[in-house]
This record gives sequence, structure tokens and C-alpha cells, in this order.
Amino acid sequence: MQVTVFSGAGISAESGVPTFRDVDTGLWSKVDPYEISSEQGWLDHPDRVWAWYLWRHYMIDAVQPNDAHLAVAEWEDYADVHVITQNVDNLHERAGSKRVYHLHGSLFEFRCDACHSRFEGDLPPMPEPVESLEPPHCPCSGLIRPNVVWFGEALPDAAWQRSLAAVTFADVLVVVGTSSIVYPAAGLPELALAKGTAVIEINPERTPLSDVATVSLRESAATAVPGLLQRLPALLGRDQLA
Ligand code: OAD
Repeated sequence: MQVTVFSGAGISAESGVPTFRDVDTGLWSKVDPYEISSEQGWLDHPDRVWAWYLWRHYMIDAVQPNDAHLAVAEWEDYADVHVITQNVDNLHERAGSKRVYHLHGSLFEFRCDACHSRFEGDLPPMPEPVESLEPPHCPCSGLIRPNVVWFGEALPDAAWQRSLAAVTFADVLVVVGTSSIVYPAAGLPELALAKGTAVIEINPERTPLSDVATVSLRESAATAVPGLLQRLPALLGRDQLA
């Protein structure tokens, strides 16, 4: 059986990582997404953007995968598991998942904004969040930026192609902790449904996917994911999945 997981910021919420859109705690309630997460924002004030991403890099480094990440990794003992994530954290990998496709890049990779070469140098420490910090310079004189996808930028092609294949061949798609509004990523569950593949949504709040998903569970990730494989036959009304 192939299980494909499609995760968003909500899967990491119980690890202590703020989501983007949750009112009050969401990252986008504290900063202007376009200013901090776009190429124009980077060109206008790279120091602010660099400080924000470096702080998130260290913040995520300090938290731990939760029961949802750990359960998804354990599913590899029972199924062919592929993880498509919109998250730029590394919590799926740290939990032990082997096949993880980062649609929006990673806060643990850095590259030059001019020549695109990978940056492997030391990062400056950041014990406290600061508002502004000069990014390192590449030998080509470009600036080092996080290897994440900003508004208006294309998704990394290899991750997108692997994600399409992972959805195409899935027996079940488990969608965890995403508001399902950011495209093209949000189109993946629609693709699965169009193929007749069962889509299970896990989210304490309703989303645009909730009405069309095969099953939509109003539960948190760390509550619902650990027992999900055992619940699947009952949820889908089938004795056995392929
Ligand atoms: P959002 O912040 O838009 O949505 C997070 C979702 O997680 C919401 O629907 C919450 O209800 C849900 N949630 C919160 N706590 C949860 C929990 N404990 N268990 C399960 N679900 C929970 O985050 P994403 O959907 O990931 O893009 O956002 C998509 C993209 O928008 C991000 O990748 C980012 C952002 O702009 C880029 O940076 C390119």
C-alpha cells in the first residue's frame, strides 16, 4: 500500500512552531508576508529578511518532532510512504522519514542569490531574535539567502515532479495541517480526488478541502496521525486497502 502524506504548518504546531495564518499566533499576523517573503522584499531590505529567516532556522533547530511526525516515519514499517511538505522545517526528516519532498524549500539550506551556489559556511549565531542582520556574502559578491520559495517564485521542479508522482500512485493521501489555500501545492489533494484516491484531511479547523475530502477529521495532528493507519479501514468503509 502506498500512503502519501501532504503536510502544512499545522503538523509542526504541536512542536511549538507557529503556523502562518492562525489568528494571533500565526507568523503572518506579526510581519507583512510580502515584505519578508518575496524577492522584492529581499532586494529592498535583505538585512531584515535575513534576520527573520535566520531566527526561524535557529528556532526550529531547538524544537523536536512531535507524535505526528514520528508516526508518519513509523508508517514506513507497514507501507510505502512518501511525504510532500510545504514546511521549510526539517522535522519530518528528524523524525526518520526517508522520502520527503520540500515544495517550499528548506530553512536548512542556503544559496547565493546571484550565482545560486550552495552556501556551506558557518552561520552567525543568533541567541535572540534581531530585526536586522547583514547576510553573508558569496565570493561572487552575491548575497546568501535561505533556499526557500518566496511569493512569486516557482516551486523547485524536482520536488514538484516527485510530489505529482507520489499523489498519482497513492492509495490514500493524508493531508495534515494545511489551510489548503496556497497553490499550486493545494491542487495536489484535488488531483488525488479527481483520480478517485481517498483523501483524509486532519485539521482542527475547516478548510476549503473539508467539504470535498473523503474524510475530514477535526482533530490535531499529534492526536489523529498516530492511530490513523489502524483507523483507515473503518474510516474508508473498506476491510482492506490495496
Ligand atoms: P497555514 O498557516 O496557512 O495553515 C495552517 C493550518 O494548520 C490551519 O488550517 C490550521 O487550522 C492548522 N492547524 C493548526 N494547528 C494544528 C494542529 N495542531 N494539527 C493540525 N492542524 C493544525 O499553513 P500552510 O497551509 O502550511 O508558503 O501554509 C501554506 C503556505 O503558506 C506555507 O508553506 C507558506 C505560507 O505562505 C511559503 O512560504 C511559500
